Amino acid sequence: LNLLEDCTLERYTAESNINQFDCGNADLNDFLHNDALPYAEKLLGVTYIFTLDANPSECVCFFTVSNDGVRVEYIPNRARKNLEKKIPNVKTQRSYPAVKIGRLGVNKKYQSPDMRVGTQLMDFIKGWFIERNKTGCRFLLVDAYNIDKVLQYYTRNHFVFLLKEEDEQKKDAAGNPKPLATRLMFYDLING
Ligand SMILES: CC(C)(COP(=O)(O)OP(=O)(O)OC[C@H]1O[C@@H](n2cnc3c(N)ncnc32)[C@H](O)[C@@H]1OP(=O)(O)O)[C@@H](O)C(=O)NCCC(=O)NCCS
Repeated sequence: LNLLEDCTLERYTAESNINQFDCGNADLNDFLHNDALPYAEKLLGVTYIFTLDANPSECVCFFTVSNDGVRVEYIPNRARKNLEKKIPNVKTQRSYPAVKIGRLGVNKKYQSPDMRVGTQLMDFIKGWFIERNKTGCRFLLVDAYNIDKVLQYYTRNHFVFLLKEEDEQKKDAAGNPKPLATRLMFYDLING
């Protein structure tokens, strides 16, 4: 059962007319309703929605994507070797093309182990950038909320941490590592 097959993918625009959307995260809900259009107008990110064919004002899930890159010098040796061993002629690359999933949410009504809409959505995104991308893009990147449910979601969908926790952590004034709000994760669209 793939709910997204009963949905239409639309680019989110001022003409999109959707009901109040709730994925369980207030910041993400607010982004979709208030910030997605200004983001798109400034060419900072494009938001896509899947709406139910049987009820087009019902948004099942959404995601926002923008161009990004995985810069070679920001990657610690171990992770870098991991990336490079999979890419030929890599010495000429300063960075690897990537797409950043800046926002992503599934309507709470459709979050369930029976439907696995989040997994369907991620499978769609992967296929979309492998087969129908207008530019080259090797990696998907995400700054995942550092909470179990979200990290498990991305891990289950074969994303891996780009950096070790201690390499992402900033220090407070006393020199102690600050808790991380997000973790950078990536998915290799070829060897993922
Ligand atoms: C994170 C999010 C997108 C995941 O979407 P989802 O539709 O719930 O995700 P999935 O399709 O992977 O999983 C649905 C359920 O099936 C379960 N499931 C998925 N694959 C499974 C498998 N192979 N075996 C067993 N259970 C599985 C999951 O554990 C999940 O159960 P839960 O709801 O009890 O945790 C969604 O919860 C969401 O929108 N959260 C709020 C917004 C957010 O945090 N977004 C992330 C931004 S970085």
